[in-house]
Amino acid sequence: MTDKNQTGDALPLSGRDTAHLPGHWLLARLGKRVLRPGGKELTERMLADAKLRGADVVEFAPGLGRTAQNIVAAAPKSYVGVEADDSAAELTRKAIAGAGTVVSGEASKTGLDDECADVVVGEAMLTMQTDKHKAEIVREALRVLRPGGRYAIHELAIEPDEVEDRVKTDIRQSLARSIKVNARPLTAAEWRDLFVECGFEVETIGFAPMALLEPQRILADEGLVGTAKFVFNVIRDGDARARVLQMRSTFTTYKKNLVAIEIIAKKKAA
Ligand SMILES: C[S@@+](CC[C@H](N)C(=O)[O-])C[C@H]1O[C@@H](n2cnc3c(N)ncnc32)[C@H](O)[C@@H]1O
Repeated sequence: MTDKNQTGDALPLSGRDTAHLPGHWLLARLGKRVLRPGGKELTERMLADAKLRGADVVEFAPGLGRTAQNIVAAAPKSYVGVEADDSAAELTRKAIAGAGTVVSGEASKTGLDDECADVVVGEAMLTMQTDKHKAEIVREALRVLRPGGRYAIHELAIEPDEVEDRVKTDIRQSLARSIKVNARPLTAAEWRDLFVECGFEVETIGFAPMALLEPQRILADEGLVGTAKFVFNVIRDGDARARVLQMRSTFTTYKKNLVAIEIIAKKKAA
């Protein structure tokens, strides 16, 4: 198992023990590179819907910089990443190799100018915030977007909209125990309300299965060699294997209720 990426750079929280490592960094340590609930396929759909060509793009929480690479390959006018973790910010800087800038910072207080972007992208980061902080981040996206600009997200949702509060609580507690992050996924209706309450118009809502740890999805996301490395690392490390199996068991238990969601929300034209 490695605490470095392919170019030998340290992964975030590389000193943290396996038992307490947030699920996304545990999977990254095991060699997994696509860390979003809907996988590469939903990312690609979301980026196409966000219309990046010629746009000034800001990405919140680029993490390892995988989506950042897709964004800069889509010929935007500019790219700025805003990442809270310093080592992740450095990894993204390397991943985009000078095709943009990455600032270390908090997505709710980017320090960027008002109306400096046409598109804001954020994946697998809002779900892990409290309700209050989700709204602060969505309002920051609104502030940095020009009128008519789009905020594109790829997150985790609970379905159906009418699910009982008891089930939502069970899911949140189970996710917190297994991925060691206070994940608070919303229903599609709650995600929509969040954007509308913060001043956006919701343009598109799409879904993909939440299949992050299903063999077929791992193969599609990581390729043959990446999958082989991941499986090898999982097999040879008992502690990590126990964590991965616990995460997988949570996802399987709530398979009916968990789904990946894409939302494209538009800032109203002035
Ligand atoms: C699950 S990873 C997702 C990374 C990447 N977006 C992806 O989909 O692969 C979560 C990332 O969000 C970053 N993050 C979480 N909350 C943040 C915030 N409020 N502001 C900026 N970055 C944040 C973390 O440091 C981490 O790199």
